Amino acid sequence: MRARRALLYMPGDDLHKIQKAIGLNVDTICMDIEDAVAHNRKADARATIVEALRTLDFGRSEKLVRINPVGSGLEEDDLLAVLPAMPDGLVLPKVGDAEYIRWVSYQLTEAERAAGRPEGSMILLALIETARGVVNLKEICQASPRLQGLIFGAEDLAGDIGAVRTRAGWEVFYARSAVVTHAAAFGLQALDMVFMDLHDIDGLREESEEGARMAYTGKQIIHPRQVEPVQAAYTPSAEAIAHARRVVEAAAQNQEAGAGAFVLDGKMVDMPVVRAAERILDRARAAGVDA
Ligand code: COA
Ligand code: MG
Repeated sequence: MRARRALLYMPGDDLHKIQKAIGLNVDTICMDIEDAVAHNRKADARATIVEALRTLDFGRSEKLVRINPVGSGLEEDDLLAVLPAMPDGLVLPKVGDAEYIRWVSYQLTEAERAAGRPEGSMILLALIETARGVVNLKEICQASPRLQGLIFGAEDLAGDIGAVRTRAGWEVFYARSAVVTHAAAFGLQALDMVFMDLHDIDGLREESEEGARMAYTGKQIIHPRQVEPVQAAYTPSAEAIAHARRVVEAAAQNQEAGAGAFVLDGKMVDMPVVRAAERILDRARAAGVDA
C-alpha cells in the first residue's frame, strides 16, 4: 500500500488550488465536491476536476476525489462525471454502513469495465464521521477489498452526536481511538482528523505526533503550510530507524541463542517490542526512507 502521510483537500471548483497542490510533494491530493464546495458550484467542481484529471500531471501525488455522500442525491452525478476520468480512487464522506461502500464499489467496477481497466484499479478511503459509522466500523472495514483506509472526521462527528469540540478532544476520543483500532484489526491505514488552526504550526506538529503515537498512519490537511510538518511527523526519524534496526538485529541474534527476552540499553526486549520496531521500519520504507 502506498504511504498516505498527508491527504490535502481543496475545493474541486478551484483549479488554482489543484495546480498549486501538485507542486507541494504531498502524498495524496483530494479534490473535493462535498462540504468545501457551495451548493450552486457542484457542477463547476465536477467539470474542473475532470479537466484537472485529464490535463494535469500529478507527479508522484495520488489523485483522489471526495464525492458527496450516498443518499445526498448528488452522488450519482458526481460518479457519472468523475469516474470516466479515472482518478486513483475516491474518498467517501459520512460512511454509516457497509452497504454504502458496496454500492460505490459496484459503480467503480462498472466504470473500470467501460474504460477497459482491470477491476479493482480504483481504491476507496472511508470517512468515519457519524455515530452510525463508528458503531458499524467492523462491518465497514470488511465491505470491499478496494478499501485501503479509514479517515477520522472529528468536526462532523461532534456535530452528529451533539458534542462541543475542544482542543484537547476528549469529546471525540472514543471515536478517534475506535477508528485506529479497527483499521489495525483489518490491515487498513488510518488518517487522523483535520487541525483547523491554519497558523498554529506547533500545535499541528504536536497533534500529528500524538496521532502517530496512537498508530495513525497519516493526517488530513487543508493548507499548503501543513504539508511539511505533517509528513515529517508521520515519517520515522533517523534515530527511531537506527534504534529499530538495532532491536531487530539483536532480537534475531538472541533468538538464535535461544533467548526470547533479553536486555538492550538496560531495557527488556521481547516480542511486542520487536514487533513495534518492525512496524517503524515498515513505515519508513513505505515513506520512501532507507530502512
Ligand atoms: N490546496 C492547495 N492550495 C491551497 C490550499 C489548499 N487546500 N489552501 C490554500 N492554497 C493556496 C492559495 O490558493 C494561495 O495560493 P497563491 O499564493 O498562489 O494565491 C496560497 O495557498 C496561500 O493561501 P492562503 O491565502 O493562506 O489561504 P486562502 O485564504 O486562499 O484559503 C482556505 C484558505 C481555508 C479557504 C483554503 O486553505 C482551503 O480551501 N482549504 C481547503 C478546504 C477544504 O477543502 N475543506 C474540506 C475538507 S476539511
Ligand atoms: Mg466531513
